[in-house]
Amino acid sequence: QVLPADHPLQSGRTSASPLVTTYQGTRGPVTPIWMMRQAGRSLPEYRALRVGTDMLDACLDPAMASEITLQPVRRHGVDAGIFFSDIVVPIKLAGVDVSIVAGKGPVLPHPVRTALDVAALPELDEKALAPISEAVALTVAALGDTPLIGFAGAPFTLAAYLVEGGPSKDHIAARTMMHSDPKTWQALMRWTASVTGAFLRAQLLAGASAAQLFDSWAGALSLADYTAKVAPASALALSRVHGLQYTAPDAATRTVPIVHFGVGTGELLGAMHDVGADVMGVDWRIPLDVASRRLGGTVPLQGNIDPAFLAAPWPVLEAHVLDVLERGKAAPSHVVNLGHGVPPDADPAVLTRVVSFVHEVAGEAAAA
Ligand code: CP3
Repeated sequence: QVLPADHPLQSGRTSASPLVTTYQGTRGPVTPIWMMRQAGRSLPEYRALRVGTDMLDACLDPAMASEITLQPVRRHGVDAGIFFSDIVVPIKLAGVDVSIVAGKGPVLPHPVRTALDVAALPELDEKALAPISEAVALTVAALGDTPLIGFAGAPFTLAAYLVEGGPSKDHIAARTMMHSDPKTWQALMRWTASVTGAFLRAQLLAGASAAQLFDSWAGALSLADYTAKVAPASALALSRVHGLQYTAPDAATRTVPIVHFGVGTGELLGAMHDVGADVMGVDWRIPLDVASRRLGGTVPLQGNIDPAFLAAPWPVLEAHVLDVLERGKAAPSHVVNLGHGVPPDADPAVLTRVVSFVHEVAGEAAAA
């Protein structure tokens, strides 16, 4: 399916941007950078705007979601916005009782544990995604030439919340269902793939120029379990967006770039790439040159500044960023990011400094 003519990729507004071309595997004069959780509690303007508004209500208020998405782009000069929402938003829009508790994360009062629970999960009426499409459209209009990244949670990470009823360390309830009741597990994976795929597709059709699938908790899985019990569902979710095409500035037909990211997933990199990702997001645990080797040296990478360095003295942080940039040269192309989200207590001035530093270093290297 070809994207609409006024889509930023199709109209040419973002198709030649550093972010999109780097995701497509080309190295340009600018090394693009954005940061997971760049919107949110590290920013005083976010905290001020959110006073008195529940997290999920903020996500479903198009004007507020759009404004929050734009805040870090204005402040830090990052090369992309990431849509302000949450991985559980499509679950909520399907009608499942879920809330986000500050300092904790998503909480479901009625965990999904049995075949009956799974059978009772409501189908997502795609009309319910209207606030998402509206928020994306508002954001894209305000971003101009800066691309917006859409995102969704991968089926396993969503199932981990649904089965556990909230955040957990080892996701043992979800992993137990996977083995003790494989039929129910598969039905749950199909449901999560369907709602999360619809959520991602809505964002791309409304104007997002790239997509990131977050399988944040897949690092809890063995490679064998990931491949047999999870990867097919992630592939199914991505199949909803795979065919979205646009005409690039060089007249080639291209598909919307898809990034796949997990935490502690160094052993799963190849398998996660195989579900249909174009770019692999790498956490801070493995150096980018090692990650690139594991992927055969052919896959564009995104990452992987260790968030722990953000509070270190500048020379220590600077040396770490230079190391990340150097190792990133092992990949065909590299978008700088953190190895996981911005910590809520990060100093926004440091984040801005990292963004300018990455832009300057890359600019100097191009001039030399
Ligand atoms: O990166 C961005 O700026 C875009 C917005 C974004 C949020 N959640 C906003 C948010 C994105 C991409 C997410 C994805 C998300 N949500 C993931 C995958 C990424 C990851 O972190 O691995 C996961 C696992 C969730 C589930 C979730 N939602 C958690 C664990 C939390 C943190 C709870 C807490 O307070 O510590 C949330 C809440 C959440 N999502 C916040 C934000 C800005 C904080 C809510 C607040 O302001 O109180």
